[in-house]
Amino acid sequence: MFDNQLIEKFKTLETPFYYYDLALLHRTLAKVKELAEKYRFHVHYALKANSNDKILKIISSYGLGADCVSGNEVLKALATGFQADHVVFAGVGKSDKEILTALEKDIFCFNCESLQEIQVINELAEKSNKIASIAIRINPNVEANTHQYITTGKEENKFGVNMAELNEILEVLKNSTFIKLVGIHFHIGSQIQDLENFKNLCFRVNEIQEWFTAQNIRLTEINVGGGLGINYHQPDLENIADFDSYFSIFNQYLKVKPSQRIHFELGRSIVAQCGSLISKVLYVKKGTNKQFAILDAGMNVLIRPALYQAYHKIENITSTSSERATYDVVGPICESADFFGKEVSLPITQRGDLIAIRSAGAYGEVMMSDYNLKEQAKSVLLAM
Ligand code: LLP
Repeated sequence: MFDNQLIEKFKTLETPFYYYDLALLHRTLAKVKELAEKYRFHVHYALKANSNDKILKIISSYGLGADCVSGNEVLKALATGFQADHVVFAGVGKSDKEILTALEKDIFCFNCESLQEIQVINELAEKSNKIASIAIRINPNVEANTHQYITTGKEENKFGVNMAELNEILEVLKNSTFIKLVGIHFHIGSQIQDLENFKNLCFRVNEIQEWFTAQNIRLTEINVGGGLGINYHQPDLENIADFDSYFSIFNQYLKVKPSQRIHFELGRSIVAQCGSLISKVLYVKKGTNKQFAILDAGMNVLIRPALYQAYHKIENITSTSSERATYDVVGPICESADFFGKEVSLPITQRGDLIAIRSAGAYGEVMMSDYNLKEQAKSVLLAM
């Protein structure tokens, strides 16, 4: 992924920084677009994965919609070229101000996560003199087999509503004249690698659709969320996620009527592989039984390993040594959780070497903080 010319360029930049391979992003988007057109699917990009302006502009240029989880994301999506009538807005805690913003901008659909939220949207829509289109986010109670922090489709979590609550919601909707129920929404979790989970989601959605038909409710929008995982272990071999298999599962197993549209909300699978965090080795320190490579980037710049025990491939991209050694690759933050990898085999590593932490394009830059008042990744290098 990094040729000599690029590495020479890296050497001139202040570290740490995020590097994005835009050619890869374009190839990924071309694939998504091709399949979306083939199956007539509507794909919304989940801005939460990466909301770098340049990246958003590229994604919107492929005609994708936007999946937003805050008023600011809605505004950012519109400012970077996404069309309001392709914006969906999810989140368990939409504030009144955010709802009003979305109403004013005439977004396509609110993905509603509770009865009270539906009531509030109805009130605010009345005040704004608008009709809000909504989809109900339902917990399908489908396993996602992923990290517990990013599993979201089980009954016992804060997201969505359970089937048992639907009757009451439908009652409320009968009197909510400023709301139009257009669809149902699901999202079972993120970084899902076993596609069987999506097959199970399809079966569940089919059952839930039958329930709505039995109530005489016609829904035009079926939103199955996101969650397609990527290969963090082999970012060069599999740098484009398995969109073929993923979309074909929904095409094969989801029962839809010709009048219905299927929506997706993909984040990680679109942007993860095109990004790397580039950091410099500050010190190499010998412990009693191990040695540490201490980087100038810490968990404040990329929190995934500390928060989810996530694996990211780590490469020394400047060492010329043919010998290898084992290092715990850590950051400078005053927390033991501040590491990027334990017992990582690298060529002999020295102060000043550049380290690439791969597959960092999703949930990397967006989750940065200035904890410890350490430097955030400042420069972002975008290369075609
Ligand atoms: N739709 C909804 C309702 C979501 O909650 C999410 C992600 C997505 C779509 C996009 O999912 P994706 O295609 O990116 O898997 N920070 C964590 C991931 C949190 C995901 C939150 N929801 C991480 O670094 O792994």
